Amino acid sequence: MTGNASDAEASATVGALDELRRAQPNLRLLAAAADLEHYGRDWTRRWTPAPLAIALPVSNEEVQAIARWASAHRIAIVPSGGRTGLSGGAVAANGELVVSFERMNRVLDFNAVDRTLTVQPGIALEAVHRAAAEHGLIYPVDFAARGSCSIGGNISTNAGGIRVIRYGNTREWIAGLKLVTANGELLELNRGLIKNSSGYDLRQLVIGAEGTLGLVVEATLRLTDPPPASQVMLFAVPQMAALMRVFAACRKRLNLSAFEFFTDRALHHVLAHGAHKPFDEVSPYYVVTEFDAADEAQQQAALEVFEQCLNDGLVNDGVLSQSDAQAAALWRLREGITESLAPHKPYKNDISVRISAVPDFLDEMSSLLTREYPQFDVVWFGHIGDGNLHINVLKPAELADADFVAQCERVTKLLSEVLARHGGSISAEHGIGLVKKPYLSGTRNPSEIELMRGVRRVFDPQGLMNPGKLFD
Ligand code: MLT
Ligand code: ZN
Repeated sequence: MTGNASDAEASATVGALDELRRAQPNLRLLAAAADLEHYGRDWTRRWTPAPLAIALPVSNEEVQAIARWASAHRIAIVPSGGRTGLSGGAVAANGELVVSFERMNRVLDFNAVDRTLTVQPGIALEAVHRAAAEHGLIYPVDFAARGSCSIGGNISTNAGGIRVIRYGNTREWIAGLKLVTANGELLELNRGLIKNSSGYDLRQLVIGAEGTLGLVVEATLRLTDPPPASQVMLFAVPQMAALMRVFAACRKRLNLSAFEFFTDRALHHVLAHGAHKPFDEVSPYYVVTEFDAADEAQQQAALEVFEQCLNDGLVNDGVLSQSDAQAAALWRLREGITESLAPHKPYKNDISVRISAVPDFLDEMSSLLTREYPQFDVVWFGHIGDGNLHINVLKPAELADADFVAQCERVTKLLSEVLARHGGSISAEHGIGLVKKPYLSGTRNPSEIELMRGVRRVFDPQGLMNPGKLFD
């Protein structure tokens, strides 16, 4: 059941819930107002949570039983991990059953030969990092929400983060998945194989599907060797046009693992949030880059890149980390941005273009934003080394939430047209969810969207898996 329920429908739903309780007496079900509120929202905070109830299964069998019950009673399901999503993908605002994976958060297996870690979906990204480190390996996908986001959510949005230029997105690191389908069947997708040329790769279809194709109940993650020792360098950059030239100079000489940028407005907010000022002079742009620096030759190369950029007028100043603590302090300037902006209720854009298209796109986008947002604080930052920019527009305190969102949505429509001209995407790594749904057609053509709908119908004929997300 989705949408507004009539009284008869509402009592049938309550009856259905009782039936689930009787059929699965050990399944933890919550329905207190505070729980509905807590589990029904993500970091977007735009929709009023209104789920039917919250289920907290502990096993694949319980998840299968929930899916069968939901299918029999036509009750929609919203999967839920750390709810750190920024696109409304985990919002439950229409009487859905939230299936929270927070109790399915264990490491199930480590395979030293395959170099894989099999985990349940509710495990936090940081716990995966720790588990990999216990075996002298790494799981390289990483970003600021690592402590609270879950692997299930990462898989659902094909999460990217700060080291995509070296390691790629989540998609590259998923060797296998177990999926509970809408009719309660348990599928084992790809089984950890490296080579598997046996038809459609359903595992890859599920990654980035935002929970619309079923419930991921297990993931086998590929691990790799830790990188060599690294250093972090912060540059102060005088002009937008210099950003990608600095990137080219760094990439030519250094083995980069990250190349991130932010503006003076972003720095302003992070400093107000307690970070330490890196330079005396203010610059309009900053770059944080991380690179291998295991020996003197690599460290020397970094200094030479800095000098060359300075001589070419591409940077004004720079700081090179000399310890892990300094590296962490430089990273904090970039990774602390999201948290520092949160009190200002930002409207978030998460866009991408090909790396080669970044300079032209930046020019056009900058004119658009200056023209359309003359009175708003617009904060730019992101993973510019892989073509992904985050544009956060901060809500003026006196403006009502709905008016603010309406104004931003008008500009996002224009932005999506600019993106379409540059061959970009309206969502790079946060997903489409509810927030970006109106702009999907700027990034995917109508036939592509129709094919996606068709795929979804095959997996979930009743449309019960996270309905309303991605498309209607
Ligand atoms: C980040 O890279 O910090 C987040 O993905 C961006 C955001 O909070 O908009
Ligand atoms: Zn990001």
